[in-house]
Amino acid sequence: MADAATAAMAAVSLSDDLEPATSRTSIRSILANGAARAGERVVVGGWVKTGREQGKGSFAFLELNDGSCVANLQVLVDAAVHPLARLTATGTSVLVEGELKKPPEGTKQRVELRVDRVLEVGEVDPAAYPLPKTKLTLENLRDVVHLRSRTNTIGAVARIRHQLACATHRFFDENGFLYVHTPIITTSDCEGAGEMFQVTTLFSHAEKVEKELKENPAPSESDIEAARIVVKEKGDVVAQLKAAKASKHEITAAVAELTKAKENVSKLDERSKLKSGIPHRDDGTVAYENDFFKRQAFLTVSGQLQVETYACALSSVYTFGPTFRAENSHTSRHLAEFWMVEPEIAFANLQDDMNCAERYVQYLCKWLLEHCREDMEFMAKNYDKTAIDRLTLVSSTPFERISYSKAVELLKNVTGKKFENKVEWGIDLASEHERYLTEVIFKKPVIVYNYPKEIKAFYMRLNDDQMTVAAMDVLVPKVGELVGGSQREERLDVLKARILDAGLPLEPYEWYLDLRRFGTVKHSGFGLGFERMILFATGLENIRDVIPFPRYPGRADL
Ligand code: 4AD
Ligand code: MG
Repeated sequence: MADAATAAMAAVSLSDDLEPATSRTSIRSILANGAARAGERVVVGGWVKTGREQGKGSFAFLELNDGSCVANLQVLVDAAVHPLARLTATGTSVLVEGELKKPPEGTKQRVELRVDRVLEVGEVDPAAYPLPKTKLTLENLRDVVHLRSRTNTIGAVARIRHQLACATHRFFDENGFLYVHTPIITTSDCEGAGEMFQVTTLFSHAEKVEKELKENPAPSESDIEAARIVVKEKGDVVAQLKAAKASKHEITAAVAELTKAKENVSKLDERSKLKSGIPHRDDGTVAYENDFFKRQAFLTVSGQLQVETYACALSSVYTFGPTFRAENSHTSRHLAEFWMVEPEIAFANLQDDMNCAERYVQYLCKWLLEHCREDMEFMAKNYDKTAIDRLTLVSSTPFERISYSKAVELLKNVTGKKFENKVEWGIDLASEHERYLTEVIFKKPVIVYNYPKEIKAFYMRLNDDQMTVAAMDVLVPKVGELVGGSQREERLDVLKARILDAGLPLEPYEWYLDLRRFGTVKHSGFGLGFERMILFATGLENIRDVIPFPRYPGRADL
């Protein structure tokens, strides 16, 4: 009893030490209820979009945005409450308290906030603020990536992105899939394309050693020899003392000195081995056994191979995380760091895979129409008139499904347009071909399947014709390839042959082959490029604007 009372007192005195909690109301919730909340007292925080003094400086209107929705809350502050000039600059942050009021008849707002207390202000010097009132282009905004989240467009994209992530987890959960976190650092090349960023501490380590050796050069042979002589001398002293039956105290002190001298030799020995530069083996290759993981490691290009290990035990799984590609692509559809959603399903063939991809993409479209209406209307108004119609169409229309051979035949017969890349059976379809199929020929999403084995990854299941693999790409208007997937090769001998054919060594894939050696199972999966999905939804033109911190050749800000 006494203990409980003491604990309760301690808790009270603890929170007494702290500032009272802030109970802030979001602008979204205020605007959702409009005039119905008039009369209520609220605390609101946000950043001023525009501020203007009125009534000869007797009060100010602030358009306040807190990121909870596109719309701003109109806030009215009297000059008696706070110096107005400190509140009106664009970008100023405020935390204010007041009463919600119905504005006078004839005004656009349905509710506004009359402030009677300004609780906090983060001021802005307008001359120095990097986001001018005049609109910056999306391209210019990439140079202020740390502040662009304050713009309406990047805010809307952030909310759409968040909703797509929620919808993804919802969809897979509703369908009995488990979310598996696959590693970001990997020692396997999933796509076998060698486009991986290496993870190593060899360089920073080499630099550290170089700096250290400059400040404190490595000992020479004669330094070490001199230290060895000291050891010998100290050893002799110990021997003499023992022979002379000296006191225990004297012997212990001499042994301690000998130990110190020995430690000095091994320290010098160790330091004499320090070499600047990257360590190499005798055959000239880099000695990765000295690296952090004692082997070569990379950032993952896809979580697929690892997630397969869980699919081959838990049946339906997915991974959703960042992936990295060191390809020197400067297109509006490629990033060096992007997010991928990768389901993997046991006991599933290519048709099951396509069905899953189609249902998932449709679910995402429907979700945005239901949960992101205002942001989608903002995108339609400002960037792409057809954005909402596209979502509606895709969410309700079955996707076209054609073989690669059929796609090539259709493209070869195109007469009205000249492609930059010649169409022939065997080519990897270029973006212009993919977009022509989905935008011009079918005017809806198209799933192309059974690609030539030469242009696809080693893990895709070889078809009976021995020429094609059970691959499938989902192509959508505006973007081209949105999804890439396949049925996986479950036959051990065929998979081994495919790895070797691709010029890859077997050894790093032995664990992957084990999945075929022990209880192999037909299975399939795909990867949806998350940013490509956002491009498709929003109608924005460049993938660099739909990820918070874009990474591409030459740029990795923050
Ligand atoms: O077609 P990809 O390379 O497939 C894989 O990585 C498979 N392992 C996936 C799987 O089966 N689990 O990539 C999948 C998707 C592409 O369709 C595309 O949407 C996107 O990822 N993507 C990129 N998105 C942005 N930037 C890049 N550099 C991308 N590369 C691929
Ligand atoms: Mg692909």
